[in-house]
Amino acid sequence: MATERTLSIIKPDATRRNLTGKINAKFEEQGLRIVAQKRIKLTKEQAEGFYAVHKERPFFNDLVAFMITGPVVVQVLEGEGAVAKNREIMGATNPANAAPGTIRKEFAESIEANSVHGSDSAENAATEIAFFFKPEEIVG
Ligand code: PPS
Repeated sequence: MATERTLSIIKPDATRRNLTGKINAKFEEQGLRIVAQKRIKLTKEQAEGFYAVHKERPFFNDLVAFMITGPVVVQVLEGEGAVAKNREIMGATNPANAAPGTIRKEFAESIEANSVHGSDSAENAATEIAFFFKPEEIVG
């Protein structure tokens, strides 16, 4: 399988509970390398732009409001099949459906406060990485 990169966001519910290190340990233990990382506070405009694909969905305003309640950690994860591997490590969107050992099973509070975001395809990963990082900020 090819080496890929994917965009990860540690969401405000997780930064608030000081879970950044525990979440990063799961990525690293399962073979993903954190090749870029920064802690930022999203603006409303940034959150709306990032989630624009969901703008017609009923939860869009709630999702944007939640994502600006506190700092997030945006990061680029690299590894073999990184997009799918990260989705596996994260677990299902709704923590009630997430498999044991996944980040969302262990840490998520609800379908909204679900601790992490991960790109869902290699194509979206490229777009999402470029949303937050300049090429020179990614050190593989
Ligand atoms: S996925 O993975 O894109 O198929 O998941 P999806 O169900 O389409 O959800 C997309 C993102 O929206 C968030 N979400 C919600 N936020 C608030 N309220 C409700 N009810 C809700 N349902 C879904 C979900 O956490 C996904 O966020 P990201 O950051 O993309 O993982």
